This record gives sequence, C-alpha cells and structure tokens, in this order.
Amino acid sequence: MLNEQVLYILEQNRGKLVTGGEIAKRLDVSRTAIWKTVAALREDGNAIESAPNKGYRLAEESDGLSGQVMGELLTTRMLGRSLELLKTVDSTNLYLRARDISALPEGHVVIADEQTGGRGRLGRTFYSPPHSGIYMSCLLKPPVPLAEAPFLTICAAVAVCRAVESVCGMRVGIKWVNDIFHDGKKLCGILTEAAVSAEMRQVDYAVVGIGVNTGDIAPEVEDVATSIYRATGLRGIRNRLAAGILNRLEEVYLDYVLHGKKSEILAAYEEKLFILGKRVRVMGSGDGYEAAVLGVDDSGALVVKNMSGDILHVASGEIRLIKEA
Ligand code: BTN
Repeated sequence: MLNEQVLYILEQNRGKLVTGGEIAKRLDVSRTAIWKTVAALREDGNAIESAPNKGYRLAEESDGLSGQVMGELLTTRMLGRSLELLKTVDSTNLYLRARDISALPEGHVVIADEQTGGRGRLGRTFYSPPHSGIYMSCLLKPPVPLAEAPFLTICAAVAVCRAVESVCGMRVGIKWVNDIFHDGKKLCGILTEAAVSAEMRQVDYAVVGIGVNTGDIAPEVEDVATSIYRATGLRGIRNRLAAGILNRLEEVYLDYVLHGKKSEILAAYEEKLFILGKRVRVMGSGDGYEAAVLGVDDSGALVVKNMSGDILHVASGEIRLIKEA
C-alpha cells in the first residue's frame, strides 16, 4: 500500500524532485519508511532518481503501473472502477475466469505487469515481459446472445485504436479480427472469451483480454511486432494508455449494449481496417484461398471476394496479408 502511495506522489510530480521529508509528511510515516519504500519500488523495476538533499523523482522512462494514477484518469461509470493490479500472473484472462465471477461487478479489470503464459487466439502465446506492456482483462456481462460475443472484440479494437491515437498520437489500423497494427507490425492483440448461461444461450459473462506492447521489443520478434516506445519514443505511458483504453472501451460498449449503435461501431471498425481492398490468404484447410477484402458484414464477419468472383463471409479464423509485388 505504501508502495502504491509513494509511486502515486512521484507520478503526480513527474519531472520535479520531491524530498523524502515531504512525502513522509504527506503519508504520515517516517523518512526511513519512505527510504525503504523507494528501495523496494526500485527493486520492482521502477526507475526513481534521487539527488542528495533534494529528493526523489521518477526517471523519464519510469513506467510503473499504479491503480491510483489510473483511477484518477478514468472517466468511466463501471469499467476499471474495481481494479486488481498484479505483479505477475500466468494470464490475466485465465486468472479472471478462475475468480468467482458472480461476486465481481461488471467492469472489474485485472492488469498485470508481466504474464508468464499470456494467451493469444488460436492457441498462440502472447509474449508479455515485465514493464513492457499493458496486459489487462475486463469483465463484461452483456445482455446479448452467445452468437454476438465476437462483437466485443470489434468494440475493443475500435476502443484501442481511439485510445492509442489520442494518448500516443500514433496512427494505427486493424487487421481483422483482433489485431492492431502500426506500420505493418503488430502493436496489440485482443482475446475475448465468453461463458454462456446454459438455459438461455445468452452470454453469462465475457472476459475481454487486451495486450499492448509499450516498451522494448525482443530482437526475435522485431520483424513482426512493434510497441509504443518503438514507434514514438514515448516511455512512461502505461497508466495513461490503460485508462484511455478503459475510457474508450466503456463508451463503445455502452453504445453497443445500451444505445444499439452496432452499425456505427462497425463503420468505425471498417474505417480502421487497413486490409480493406487488399489481397489476403484466408487460412483454412490446406493452404486456404486467396481473396480480396471487401469489408465486414453486420455480424463483424469479413466479406471477401475469392479468385472465382464468389462473395464469401468469413465468420472466424485467420487471414494473412499477401505482399504486393
Ligand atoms: C492475440 O494476439 O491473438 C490476442 C492476444 C491477447 C493478449 C491479452 S494480454 C491480456 C490477456 N491475457 C491473456 O492471456 N491474453 C490477453
């Protein structure tokens, strides 16, 4: 708790030195307690600079996650108002699904600094090293049939694009169905997992997992992946971006479930679909087939035209971009 409070004060004073005495006074603890807390925060990977007799300050690159800082930046009614911050976990989606969901409010969010078994779609892993990304899962309880659960991924993709563009000033696009790209490389992936209530075939709850690369990118993936830092040089962005995503996601989600604005959301999604008009390979049995992307239909399925001129609706699966010669 003291860790979180000290981090919050340093975050509030970003760029300025704050003395140990000032922090101790504000928190009504001893200066030794502050000194020990700063040491513990550094151990946890927070870059905190100190100047003798002048105090402490967050280094420019310091990017510690703080529930308090995020809380201040939230404009939501429910999303993120109940928040769990974890240092490390196998997967935030798995962790949240294992909780007693009926006891958690809609909008509960789990964020981790690191995932040791981050999961992607189609059984893939999502590389989630410490201090380098936003790995979060949002609990939603939408009053919709199970068949509509994939629409939550559409909502999340639109929300992530809006948040990244406004918080980081960076152009991004969507690769159907769940990936956000910048400059031809993956920046973010979304994994929605829904549970159904047996009698009604309605969604009981859904966990929308969002992973955004923010920090360094491992050399082995730098051909295919990018991050906020790689693209913009920005550090220290995780709290602002996580709050920004939650703010946008709640807006889009409520537009969907309360205001029935599905077609507007689909239009926003399609506008960001950078594969529009491009040639892709629709993966399936064998090598799949080649097609041109026409857009998305009312359910979010990808509409393509194959080489024989047939119009097909691809409800799930994967596509690969074909590089133009
Ligand atoms: C994909 O790339 O196919 C989807 C990646 C989704 C990653 C996020 S990170 C938070 C949440 N927890 C997980 O294990 N996966 C999602």
